[in-house]
Amino acid sequence: MSTMVDVRHLFVRFGDFTAVRDVSFTVEKGEIFGFLGANGAGKTTTIRVLCGLLLASEGRVFIDNEELIAGHESLIKSKVGYMSQHFTLYDDLSIRENMDFAASLRHMNHAEYLKNRRDLLDFIGFNEDLTKVVRDLPTGIKQEIALCVSLLHQPKIVFLDEPTAGVAPVARHRFWELIKKLVAQGKTIFVTTHYMDEAENCGRIALMRSGELIALDSPANLKQNTFHKQLYHLSPITTPVILPDRNLFDIWEPYGQNYHAVFKNDTDISIVRKHFNIQKISPSLEDVFIQLVEGQTR
Ligand SMILES: Nc1ncnc2c1ncn2[C@@H]1O[C@H](COP(=O)(O)OP(=O)(O)O)[C@@H](O)[C@H]1O
Ligand SMILES: [Mg+2]
Repeated sequence: MSTMVDVRHLFVRFGDFTAVRDVSFTVEKGEIFGFLGANGAGKTTTIRVLCGLLLASEGRVFIDNEELIAGHESLIKSKVGYMSQHFTLYDDLSIRENMDFAASLRHMNHAEYLKNRRDLLDFIGFNEDLTKVVRDLPTGIKQEIALCVSLLHQPKIVFLDEPTAGVAPVARHRFWELIKKLVAQGKTIFVTTHYMDEAENCGRIALMRSGELIALDSPANLKQNTFHKQLYHLSPITTPVILPDRNLFDIWEPYGQNYHAVFKNDTDISIVRKHFNIQKISPSLEDVFIQLVEGQTR
């Protein structure tokens, strides 16, 4: 595989606040690269730099082997598509007006625009009226149209910043089927999400915490390597729940009505069995996320 994104020692500062600190990674062509982290971790800020919308304070960025240089962002912008987190489409404009406007910002050739628009709407299976006002669309469809808008100029890589936030589960699934089809067509996908089931679809996942990159690996490797001891699922037998001595555990995390835990010493399991059903489990991506991203900020 060859490299689509190469980030080297990226820093982004806002005044004396550092939003992104010494972040380095690469994204390979044709990869689904997941970018995860709690709110405020620096995901959107990093994406804005990679799209040429925000200047790095320090560090170097290469997109498709071209260095992103201040003042010369236009070359990079033709290679990247961007679906932003909070703004996707103008609610009070029609679908067609939104797409026309995006094409005009890109100075797209009209014939090419019309062809790409038709292809993309076919791609998402949309054959309704383009004069529909965006406000009247279900959130899932709105996000699919926004995806089309980000792809109008045929970028090689598309940055999707929480594209499925607030989207119903069935529509989230549909959206991910589109992502997989794009990859099959040769696109590279850089995506942020808070949904761990979605993150499972990524080839590799980067985990951000407080502006720093703290882990980068495949979902399988993250699940295998994050916990050094056996993880257990504990479900309370008694009501009210009688909580065990917290000192027995390296990790003790609420999990719905139950708990996920790592014992300091597995011989203590018998003490806890009086009040809990205890099962060995393999860590889920959610366990990994809680452990790495949230665990240490509590
Ligand atoms: N333009 C800005 N000026 C000052 N601080 C900012 C700006 N943009 C983002 N930040 C801060 O940088 C941090 C990272 O934000 P962001 O990249 O949006 O995080 P995420 O997308 O992971 O939720 C946050 O603390 C945020 O408040
Ligand atoms: Mg964000």
